[in-house]
Amino acid sequence: MDNTRLIRQLPKAELHLHIEGSLEPELMMQLAKKHKVTLPYQSIEQVKQAYNFDNLQSFLDLYYLGASVLRDEDDFYQLMWRYLLKCREENVVHCELMFDPQTHTERGIGFDIFMPGFLRAIEQAKQQWGQSCLLIMCFLRHLPEQSALQTLQQAQPYLDHIEAVGLDSSELGHPPEKFTQAFAEAKKMGLKAVAHAGEEGPPDYIWSAINTLKVDRIDHGVRSIEDPALMTLLKEQQIPLTVCPLSNIKLCVFDHMSQHNILKLLDAGLLVTVNADDPSYFGGYLNDNFLALDQHLGLQSEQIKQLVSNSFNASFLDDRTKQLWLDKIQTGSL
Ligand code: HPA
Ligand code: ZN
Repeated sequence: MDNTRLIRQLPKAELHLHIEGSLEPELMMQLAKKHKVTLPYQSIEQVKQAYNFDNLQSFLDLYYLGASVLRDEDDFYQLMWRYLLKCREENVVHCELMFDPQTHTERGIGFDIFMPGFLRAIEQAKQQWGQSCLLIMCFLRHLPEQSALQTLQQAQPYLDHIEAVGLDSSELGHPPEKFTQAFAEAKKMGLKAVAHAGEEGPPDYIWSAINTLKVDRIDHGVRSIEDPALMTLLKEQQIPLTVCPLSNIKLCVFDHMSQHNILKLLDAGLLVTVNADDPSYFGGYLNDNFLALDQHLGLQSEQIKQLVSNSFNASFLDDRTKQLWLDKIQTGSL
């Protein structure tokens, strides 16, 4: 089987996807019209042309602008539903999706608006084709820790539907230890933890996410390669990295896909996974990320299977369910 077919056919898990980053220009323009929100774009073409980023912050500015069209319950349902249809199309059988409550609560849109919309879509996909989906509630690191603590309180009625907390937004200048208390509180509530670290920030931020936030995995983490002692720790403890190739190119973390370090991390024995991050902004969903790696780095079929197996091993699924998917990947009984 050729790699393209293998990538498309393997059952996969997506572990690093911001649901607000799956807002396609078509839905953005439709909702802007519905709610009479003025955006600086006249056409879908113009939206796509604007998606040329120099760094993380230049992307975040447009990402928060885009999210401003999400207003009522049905908007959040539409957003989630469209992404879950993608999962079905791409054979992403399990997904762990990040959402940014503060992006909405700061605009006066509460948990009672977005959570019912998200949950309605997730339940429908589960009923219709057995989609498996968990939610990760992210704190915006450019805001004070107090705001994260308040968000944790607001989330109380929905804790049964939230698997973990995460940390995203502007990395530089906002080290993980800024959120030590919020993560400790979340852990006490039984939530798991992840954090973006080592995308633009230094390896020190990865150390801090592990040692002070006690995260179960690191989002991005590609700069770990600069620190041999950190590489040893990540390998020995098999702390997963959720790597996002197309994102890294669009945000200029690497100049070109042929320079991406994911295979070096994999060869060093780290538990690395492939993910889409913000597919509508970065030009592709999960299969596109694998295909781009294959095109520019040349993947062996065993490497594809390893990366896909890693996505289940690094997930928050129970061991039995993990094993069922791992067996399917190994035996090829798809
Ligand atoms: N990094 C940090 N914050 C984010 C990202 C990202 O890739 N996507 C959405 N928020
Ligand atoms: Zn991300």
